[in-house]
Amino acid sequence: MDDRRHSVLVVGATGTQGSAAVRGLLSRGHRVRALTREPARARRLTEMGAEVAVGDLGDPAAVEAALDGMTAVFAVPLREPGDDAAELRNSAFLIEAAKRSGVRHFVQTSVAGTGQLSRMPRWGSGHWNEEYWETKHRIEEAVRGGGLPAYTILKPSFLMENLIPPKAPLMFPELARDEIVTAVGRHVRVQMISAGDVAAFAAAALERPDRFSGQSIELAAEALTMHEVAAAIAAVTQRTVRAVSLTARQAVAAGRPEAVVRGEEWLNEVGYHASIDALASYGVALTGFRKWAETHRAVLGQAVG
Ligand SMILES: NC(=O)c1ccc[n+]([C@@H]2O[C@H](COP(=O)([O-])OP(=O)(O)OC[C@H]3O[C@@H](n4cnc5c(N)ncnc54)[C@H](OP(=O)(O)O)[C@@H]3O)[C@@H](O)[C@H]2O)c1
Repeated sequence: MDDRRHSVLVVGATGTQGSAAVRGLLSRGHRVRALTREPARARRLTEMGAEVAVGDLGDPAAVEAALDGMTAVFAVPLREPGDDAAELRNSAFLIEAAKRSGVRHFVQTSVAGTGQLSRMPRWGSGHWNEEYWETKHRIEEAVRGGGLPAYTILKPSFLMENLIPPKAPLMFPELARDEIVTAVGRHVRVQMISAGDVAAFAAAALERPDRFSGQSIELAAEALTMHEVAAAIAAVTQRTVRAVSLTARQAVAAGRPEAVVRGEEWLNEVGYHASIDALASYGVALTGFRKWAETHRAVLGQAVG
């Protein structure tokens, strides 16, 4: 077997980043095992050629069985409703178990902006969801200190897939009436990346460990205002879509969940700062929002209006 062909356990395989990773890795000839708690959700993945491992990340025996024979892992950090400690605990177990079972390369996704948390404006005031950021940071540290032969940490900015189901009805419910209503400032540019590009970086990391091993890489393809996002969706779907910028107080009064509005304030005041130009050195093509929207025209068309 070609040394660069991996057998990859994909965590979160039925979700946004995981399903893109399954698709991307299979298309490049890797063997993929998709972890899911509900095999019926993975039917499309098996049709594409993935194996399925049924199990919960919180079940050590299931995780160990899923890792059997795997040479690589694509890991997504997953929150557990009602158990704040589970995301870190499950990630730490996965890292340990992967090392024990002989995984050669561990690709962990996180989020852009985790370094130097104490330098984040308003850090320590309780204004931001500090537990969110601390957990991601600690998972990254567990990967770095995990004694794995090779690791790569991919840190996405805002995922473009937030604008399509299943995320859009929660994050942008007004899209259903052709509006993107947020507390993101009218002139604020939000760095974004597609799940497909995260997957492309993961495949490149596994195939070119000399370049990617030990790297922590913040990912963004471009930075757009919400008005530019709305204009691109409008152009692609041939509908009139507009962005509405509210103050945080107006957004909460309009019924947007407070946690979501806090995240939008974070985009205004802190934001993602990936070095987009520097990403070119990895040799992975980046997908701009307009091109991503064209690829997702059908599902965007269903999401709007
Ligand atoms: N959205 C953004 O803009 C953004 C940006 C940067 C980082 N992130 C981070 O990305 C992560 C979420 O990634 P995502 O959006 O790709 O995930 P997602 O779409 O929410 O998918 C999660 C998948 O994980 C599986 N899952 C959930 N709990 C599990 C458990 N206990 N055991 C096994 N499988 C489990 C579920 O599959 P089954 O039901 O089939 O088991 C689900 O399909 C979060 O940590 C978030 O902070 C998000």
